[in-house]
Amino acid sequence: MDTQVVIIGGGPSGLLLSQLLNRSGIETIILERSSREHVLSRIRAGVLEWGSVEVLREAGVGARMEAEGFAHDGTWLSDADHMVHIDFHDLTGKRVMIYGQTEVTHDLYDAQDAFGTRIIHGVEDVAILDLDGPVAAVEYTLNGTRHRLRCAYVAGCDGFHGVSRRTIPAGKRAEFERVYPFGWLGILSKTPPVNDELIYASSPHGFALASMRNANLVRYYVQVPLTDRVEDWSDDHFWAEFRRRLPADAAAKLVTGPAIEKSIAPLRSFVSEPLRWGRLFLVGDAAHIVPPTGAKGLNLAVSDVFYLHQALIDALKYGRQAGIDGYSQRALARIWQAMRFSWQMTTMLHRFDGEDSFAAQMRRAALDHLGRSETARRELAENYVGLPF
Ligand code: FAD
Ligand code: DHB
Repeated sequence: MDTQVVIIGGGPSGLLLSQLLNRSGIETIILERSSREHVLSRIRAGVLEWGSVEVLREAGVGARMEAEGFAHDGTWLSDADHMVHIDFHDLTGKRVMIYGQTEVTHDLYDAQDAFGTRIIHGVEDVAILDLDGPVAAVEYTLNGTRHRLRCAYVAGCDGFHGVSRRTIPAGKRAEFERVYPFGWLGILSKTPPVNDELIYASSPHGFALASMRNANLVRYYVQVPLTDRVEDWSDDHFWAEFRRRLPADAAAKLVTGPAIEKSIAPLRSFVSEPLRWGRLFLVGDAAHIVPPTGAKGLNLAVSDVFYLHQALIDALKYGRQAGIDGYSQRALARIWQAMRFSWQMTTMLHRFDGEDSFAAQMRRAALDHLGRSETARRELAENYVGLPF
């Protein structure tokens, strides 16, 4: 065998799984299609559940997160000028951490370099083979040469467009999907945050989210039609639209500046079941996508990795199969809860084109209910800070 576990994909799922396995003495090789620079240039998630923070600490990559991340005790939801505060800490005793996915990935690459793990960038035409036999194989092309790796297990951490999920025969898996008729246009700007906590803003003009990375770097989003392209959005257009979706008090404090990054992501809910096919396991976005409204995408990847690393350690170090046999069911139970929450937050906060007047009243009533009911706020807080692993 060439290694114990071949990991396909060097995004946060693949790197974190490799890091946790290496710390338990299990050997891995990571195959990544893109360059490291490309992986690190992608601006994505910004909110870590406390459970994710603890897993990252356990993986030995907590130091910079502790020093540079920001723990937030709560968040704001708004409907026009009606603002509701969700105090996570009061309601659940937990907080979340503001620390960008880019930084998490950076820390994981550094930690993997320290282990000397082989991370092979620029691989093409990955094929996953022999999943039913005693030894699995992964083939790939690098610089025009075909290579083959033999291993005990394969972890498919290659995102939504990867090869791993498609390796499971179509007739052997079930897909569940909801595509939303809008996307999020996100910008990064070197300006001070408009508020000390995040604001999820519903408005007659559509949804906006005010998030941040640090005291002088913001991440702001507006809901846009799927037909819009980044080129359609000048900085001025973005700021005008963002401002009019924020509650008036926040809008009055908004500081604008040049956007240093701008991208559009479509919104989708998607699950593929099961997460195991013989010696192959699906992890993170390879198996499921959530709309970003609940900040769950990266956090679900972390909980999948947490379950799978335990299962693989049990199998490879102690010869116990129960963990790998139960991985799919265990991970899916938590995935479906995050699916429900992300769908509910998306429905509660976005304007759907062509909707009737009743829909806006329902969103208003939902926000109003949150303002009046501590039980409703606790339910939201419990999901937002993350359900137990
Ligand atoms: P990925 O990060 O997708 O990593 C998969 C890796 O596999 C990539 O590096 C890719 O290059 C590699 N790969 C793909 N195919 C192959 C192949 N055939 N062979 C080898 N390597 C391959 N979540 C939030 O919570 N908040 C957000 O604001 C947010 N914004 C997002 C914006 C975008 C555009 C996207 C796509 C996702 C966003 N997410 C967000 C979701 C979150 O970023 C993901 O849930 C998270 O990245 C999942 O990590 P992953 O490692 O499973 O997948
Ligand atoms: C961010 C993204 C999210 O989807 C979210 O719900 C909260 C924050 C962010 O990029 O900061």
